[in-house]
Amino acid sequence: MHLLEVERLRVAFDTPDGVLEAVRGLSLHVDAGETLGLVGESGAGKSVALQAVMGLLERAEVSGSARFAGEELLGLPAARLRQILGAQIAMVFQDPASSLHPLYRVGWQIAEVIRVHAGIGRRAARQRAVELLDLVGIPSPAQRAEDYPHQLSGGMRQRALIAMAVSLGPALLIADEPTTALDVTVQAQVLELLRSLQAEMEMAIIVVTHDFGVIAELADRVTVLYAGKAVEQAETRRLYHKAHHPYSLGLLASVPDPEGGTAPLEGIGGQPPSLLQLPAGCSFHPRCPFVMARCTAEEPPLGRVDDETADHWSACWLPPGEVGRGSQDAGSQDAGSQDAGSQDAGSHPAARPPAPAGDAPPL
Ligand SMILES: Nc1ncnc2c1ncn2[C@@H]1O[C@H](COP(=O)(O)OP(=O)(O)O)[C@@H](O)[C@H]1O
Ligand code: SF4
Ligand SMILES: [Mg+2]
Repeated sequence: MHLLEVERLRVAFDTPDGVLEAVRGLSLHVDAGETLGLVGESGAGKSVALQAVMGLLERAEVSGSARFAGEELLGLPAARLRQILGAQIAMVFQDPASSLHPLYRVGWQIAEVIRVHAGIGRRAARQRAVELLDLVGIPSPAQRAEDYPHQLSGGMRQRALIAMAVSLGPALLIADEPTTALDVTVQAQVLELLRSLQAEMEMAIIVVTHDFGVIAELADRVTVLYAGKAVEQAETRRLYHKAHHPYSLGLLASVPDPEGGTAPLEGIGGQPPSLLQLPAGCSFHPRCPFVMARCTAEEPPLGRVDDETADHWSACWLPPGEVGRGSQDAGSQDAGSQDAGSQDAGSHPAARPPAPAGDAPPL
């Protein structure tokens, strides 16, 4: 049994312009102690998917399944959900300033979480809060515990928030763009902190990002999201060396914007489609350098790449050898006539090009 197993998750919003399908049949899982990276451009549905799993969305139509330690989260009574959130599933968001209350001292806020959930006295909770601030690398933790959030730097606030998130020893930490708002040096420190906490506390992490650098630092496996769908899933190293989906290749080639925005994809122009007006067939086709006739008509299913043993999936019609890191000439071939009719049986015949020499990621 997986720690978290999401199956066929769909999330739709009723908007004045029509029904917006933000998540369109997403399945993913994370096991105890491992890190899953959820990557994709802004608007891909990363935050909405996780908020739906955690029951945090209002006025959204949510369907599918999300089981945590075997228990279905979707539709769970609010009281039970509150027990799970915080204690067993904790969250860290992009903007630590908005997640800490500005009018309460940092140490007090952490101690309250511990006191309420763990049912221990104020003094013990306060002591534990100071220990946690120490654990996340905040110098002079007893003094810092007396500070208000605005007295801490952005990096220190994010550390304090991480301290609060892990205070109850959660089995799963969901970190939604945890470093996006931080400057580059602090980003590296926070990633290192998450890594060391994970080793120490043996928790699973889902890290949401648009930055493959973050994935390289943290994730064991990756799910690439495009327009509300998983388009590729693989073990991280494998994705770096043998990515199959042209969108994954575009992300790998793009340089993350240090300011936190989404940089244009190198070699892939254009913008993600409007979720109110998705292109027919493969929703990536207007931007895809490998587009074939079939792509504009039929939507490719997520199928197994390469062989039966690899946990590598891609939603793309391209046949073996046609794309992947280092494959330069695939786009020039019209593979529209190729028969890939057996793909919906889960045997997607996809590529395994050799990774170019000297192109290893910093893993
Ligand atoms: N409450 C809402 N009502 C309508 N649309 C929403 C709402 N929340 C998010 N969306 C839309 O859902 C899509 C996915 O958003 P989100 O999950 O935040 O993307 P990201 O991958 O950047 O985290 C976006 O198009 C966004 O505009
Ligand atoms: S299915 Fe076609 S358009 Fe979509 S990613 Fe694959 S090659 Fe590109
Ligand atoms: Mg988001």
